[in-house]
Amino acid sequence: MKSAKEFWDKSAARYAKSPVRDEAVYQKKLTITQEYLQPDWSILEFGCGTGSTAIIHAPCVRHIVASDISSRMLEIAEAKAREAGIGNISFQQGTLEELRLTPESFDAVLGLNVLHLLEDVNAAIVQVHDLLKPGGIFVSSTALVNNISLFWRLTIPLMQLLGLAPHVSRFDKQELLSMLTKAGFTPVFEWQPDQASVFIVARKPASIPANQ
Ligand SMILES: C[S@@+](CC[C@H](N)C(=O)[O-])C[C@H]1O[C@@H](n2cnc3c(N)ncnc32)[C@H](O)[C@@H]1O
Repeated sequence: MKSAKEFWDKSAARYAKSPVRDEAVYQKKLTITQEYLQPDWSILEFGCGTGSTAIIHAPCVRHIVASDISSRMLEIAEAKAREAGIGNISFQQGTLEELRLTPESFDAVLGLNVLHLLEDVNAAIVQVHDLLKPGGIFVSSTALVNNISLFWRLTIPLMQLLGLAPHVSRFDKQELLSMLTKAGFTPVFEWQPDQASVFIVARKPASIPANQ
């Protein structure tokens, strides 16, 4: 199987041209996310792809770090941000482990359509928790690969052998919620647009004052 970077670099041009799968679902996720965002917030979107969502949220916050494993995705994202006149997004190439981000430096982290693509989902969730300030939120939108149709569950391994599909991690909603709570998050919003995906907003508890 190709490396994740190779796979996504090769997919970037096609991904940039592909339409949003369900516009109503996408708009609802944007609206819910923006109900939490605040103008002075600094946020991270990892696995930002071609930057469409970061560009939409950018006017609602102070600054966005938008990162991705694929430099090709980021080239497209940077061009789109320039064209849209958005100046408060810094693009960084690398995985969460590779980026040297400061612990407790973000008010929100977004991981959209990316958790199921990671080799170690649990480690990524723990890392997101470390990167958030106390009281910060983690917004995730995730494919539940266990719940996709039997056809795709059988086809994906063949496609992976041919280099036509990326690595996918399989977990269900309960397993994802359990990884989040074990890392210290409290889920505050949960929505399943369909049985094979889930959108979750989870909060890192605010720190308790020392005199309590
Ligand atoms: C399905 S796309 C989603 C892009 C965007 N978040 C969206 O919702 O349109 C997955 C993205 O995750 C990136 N990606 C895959 N594995 C990654 C990893 N380990 N670390 C960071 N980004 C990764 C890919 O390069 C790709 O841009």
